[in-house]
Amino acid sequence: MDHNSIRVLFATSEVFPLVKTGGLADISFALPKALRQLGVDVRLLVPAYPVIKQQLDLKPVDDPIPLFPVLNQAPAQLLLGQLPDTDVPVYAIDSPALFGREGGPYQDSMGNDWADNALRFGVLSRIAAYFGEHRFSFKPHLVHCNDWQTSLAPAYLHYAPASHAKTLISLHNVAYQGVFDAGLLHLLELPDASYHMHGLEYYQQLSFLKAGIVYANWVATVSPTYAREIQTPTFGYGLAGLLASRQHELSGILNGIDASWSPVNDPLLPHHYHADDLSGKAANKHALRNRLGLHHAPERPLIGLIGRLAYQKGLDLVLPVLPNILAEGAQVVLLGSGDKGMEQHLRELAQRYQGQLSVTIGYDEALAHQIEAGSDLFLMPSRFEPCGLNQLYSMCYGTLPIVRRTGGLADTVIDVTPTHLDQGIATGFVFDYEDPAILLNTVQRALVLYRSPELWRYVQQTAMRRDFSWTKSAGDYLDLYQHLLA
Ligand code: ADP
Ligand code: GLC
Repeated sequence: MDHNSIRVLFATSEVFPLVKTGGLADISFALPKALRQLGVDVRLLVPAYPVIKQQLDLKPVDDPIPLFPVLNQAPAQLLLGQLPDTDVPVYAIDSPALFGREGGPYQDSMGNDWADNALRFGVLSRIAAYFGEHRFSFKPHLVHCNDWQTSLAPAYLHYAPASHAKTLISLHNVAYQGVFDAGLLHLLELPDASYHMHGLEYYQQLSFLKAGIVYANWVATVSPTYAREIQTPTFGYGLAGLLASRQHELSGILNGIDASWSPVNDPLLPHHYHADDLSGKAANKHALRNRLGLHHAPERPLIGLIGRLAYQKGLDLVLPVLPNILAEGAQVVLLGSGDKGMEQHLRELAQRYQGQLSVTIGYDEALAHQIEAGSDLFLMPSRFEPCGLNQLYSMCYGTLPIVRRTGGLADTVIDVTPTHLDQGIATGFVFDYEDPAILLNTVQRALVLYRSPELWRYVQQTAMRRDFSWTKSAGDYLDLYQHLLA
């Protein structure tokens, strides 16, 4: 099919800059934008959370949509608007009972999952499937689902009397599966025929993600290495066998980064710079230390760390050796939120190491950009990482990543070894084992390079000149769409 006539519904539960808990939001912004530049008519489908209604100019379209009878609620209304700074149309599902509440997209302000998430994201999936049944004025050839929140759509379409669209599920993280009580099957209007071990049944429960993997025409993940890893027990979180059984319809396409992440013109940075003149980077480091109250010592390296405080991110591998890292003369700046115990522990550490360690608990987009620009090194010791965006942002900002060799980290960071230095391809520091001592060793290795300014600048420039734009990856998605629609 000619790519200029392909219509795609991109169904997602979060999208930057409207609502974001992690990398999925960044991808939901950047990939549709890049695909439209290639001529694909891709449109988003999201829930109309209050933050979305506040930020977009939305107009009702199409007829009201009846919800699951159990909800006993007024029909939902589709609203249509446009994603800021793009030409991407956004359909938002207006159902105040389901989405009209303050708090996060998945959790209340205390960090508890909303009790009715199965119904909320059942509705999102159901309406994505209705698009695939061509019930609305926009009639996509393909419904592109993302993560468990939209993952029932392929099941609905599989059993729909008239399905007109192919389905693709992108797995951004197999550890989050949306597993709920099996009693919800009928309330979600799923047929009995879907409830078996080769369907969406998962140990006597109902798994959204499994439904997507079973019923979608194709399964994509966000890096080639993660695509292989999830077919093994350690990374498959109970779905390895199923994923392996679909290995011929399973592929990994690396995420790109949006052009708005560039040290040349990032509006959230106090100073701009580029690979040939890094003086602005030093100025950002100075400004960051000022902002966070770190001791001024221009020659001391600054190590950044940003992310969800979750098992996945491996922060607990850092804590036992944090005093050693600081003793090496490095300063550490951390931004994150998540596990409440970890948050508290980090606050205490920040007290103990004032001037050397800065901890910001919470979510702060501007600070995230400033850490990427102002740090020398970026630490990302993830246990698993489907793709990871922060190591890409880091390289682009001349901040050398220190990563564990897993998933997208393994696919994007090239270790500083003598051979890679000779080949002019080294961009960061990579270690294998989930072991604090090995992590410390790798940090020390990075600090040795830091003390050789010329070599350091050479690796920084290599990292900054790598192309992580969406151009290639969006083309890979387009190829996949065409393959599915052939
Ligand atoms: P994941 O999606 O697993 O959380 P990614 O590396 O793919 O990891 O993406 C994380 C995204 O969320 C990045 O854009 C990162 O800068 C951002 N982010 C994570 N935590 C925070 C925070 N506390 N404040 C601001 N941005 C954050
Ligand atoms: C998930 C993954 C992360 C990935 C992001 C976007 O949140 O944890 O590795 O970069 O999705 O695909």
